[in-house]
Amino acid sequence: MSNDASYDIAVIGAGYVGVPHAQAFAEAGKRIVLVDVLPEVVDAINRGESHIGDVPSERLKPLVESGAIRATVDPAVVADADAIVIAVPTPLSPQREPDLSAIERAAASIGPHLRKGHVVVLESTTYPGTTKEVLQPILERESGLKAGADFHLAFAPERVDPGRTDFTMSTTPKVVGGIDESSTEAAAGLYRGVVEDVHTVSTAEAAELSKLLENIFRSVNIALVNELAQLCDRMGIDVWEVVDAAATKPFGFMSFKPGPGLGGHCIPLDPFYLSWKAREYDFSTRFIELAGEINNNMPYFCRSVISQALNHGAQKSLRGSKILILGVAYKSDIGDVRESPAEKILMLLRTAGAEVAYHDVHVAEFDGLTSVPLEPENYDCVVIVTAHSGIDYADVVRRGKVIVDFRNATKGAEVDGKVWKL
Ligand SMILES: NC(=O)c1ccc[n+]([C@@H]2O[C@H](COP(=O)([O-])OP(=O)(O)OC[C@H]3O[C@@H](n4cnc5c(N)ncnc54)[C@H](O)[C@@H]3O)[C@@H](O)[C@H]2O)c1
Repeated sequence: MSNDASYDIAVIGAGYVGVPHAQAFAEAGKRIVLVDVLPEVVDAINRGESHIGDVPSERLKPLVESGAIRATVDPAVVADADAIVIAVPTPLSPQREPDLSAIERAAASIGPHLRKGHVVVLESTTYPGTTKEVLQPILERESGLKAGADFHLAFAPERVDPGRTDFTMSTTPKVVGGIDESSTEAAAGLYRGVVEDVHTVSTAEAAELSKLLENIFRSVNIALVNELAQLCDRMGIDVWEVVDAAATKPFGFMSFKPGPGLGGHCIPLDPFYLSWKAREYDFSTRFIELAGEINNNMPYFCRSVISQALNHGAQKSLRGSKILILGVAYKSDIGDVRESPAEKILMLLRTAGAEVAYHDVHVAEFDGLTSVPLEPENYDCVVIVTAHSGIDYADVVRRGKVIVDFRNATKGAEVDGKVWKL
């Protein structure tokens, strides 16, 4: 890194990826500037207040106070940094097509401030070809510089897993692929002081596809076990017991758990980035589509399980029943509700005429509702959608009338005719 620039790295996008990055780089001695379009996010970071669960304010504040991290809405600041890491959202359009508008806008905003020698790395999850076909032309157009000759350009997928504590950015290997060899090397050098293991690949496309493979692998395997859960329901077999038994095989099997549907910003969306791109090559990605179909259907299957449980357990229909959803975040012990299956389940139950409330210690407000106290006895049915730790599920079973458990949280506390599981 040069000593002339005010910052070692400018991180574009101060979200679930950008803020933990800033923290990891800053704790490794780098000077970081976070750039975001939201003034409220920028102001909060500059006060040392974190809006990202994985980065507690107590960790962020000293880094802000020491000057290791600052935030701004002004993209021109990238001129004062040696390297630029882009971590902006890559959602799907309502038609389930890639929406790269945030990458395009970020590129257009930093392009005019690029200078020779800059290292630009895209971390946002996307289809193979994005770095070269989308990012590179915008940066070149806006800067008048040539990627490769004047500045380095690479893709290095982000692997953050919100809530995970056993692996950090430093201990999770980083895949890096540049548009040419020197870009790969320059980008790899950026991570080497912070990440223990940097794995380089020969192209940006290989790096882009490697990230999609990781997420498609999860989506397909979750779909497989979700399909099995539906079959087990018909056959009267406990799918959880089956998965646990199969998982005793010490080789050749990897355990995936069934659940009420996919959630989060990655697994439900990213696979469709590849199906979309594959169409350009006259290729249909059948595993991705099938997995999407099975996983998307899970909330509907869950509604039928809840309906059966009320029917047999309480002689009630969904219509008019009081239902408490326990846990609405997309996974345990975090407050992230993006794409959470709880949203669809809640909508389906409401549409069926049920009166729905929810309890989630990590989510104060959800879908127009406010989290209520955990009083299982006040409801016809308690539905465990997300199993946060710190909840006494045996007590929920004791106090509740009918319990529907999509996470096997009540394992060991099951009561026949009262607890219904996936
Ligand atoms: N969240 C995860 O667990 C995770 C894991 C791996 C990869 N990813 C990928 O990383 C990327 C970022 O995801 P995230 O979860 O951090 O998103 P996020 O929504 O939490 O944060 C993105 C931030 O970027 C800002 N932003 C949007 N457009 C901008 C622009 N033009 N200039 C500057 N800032 C802009 C937004 O205001 C927001 O604060 C996505 O491609 C995602 O798929 C996310």
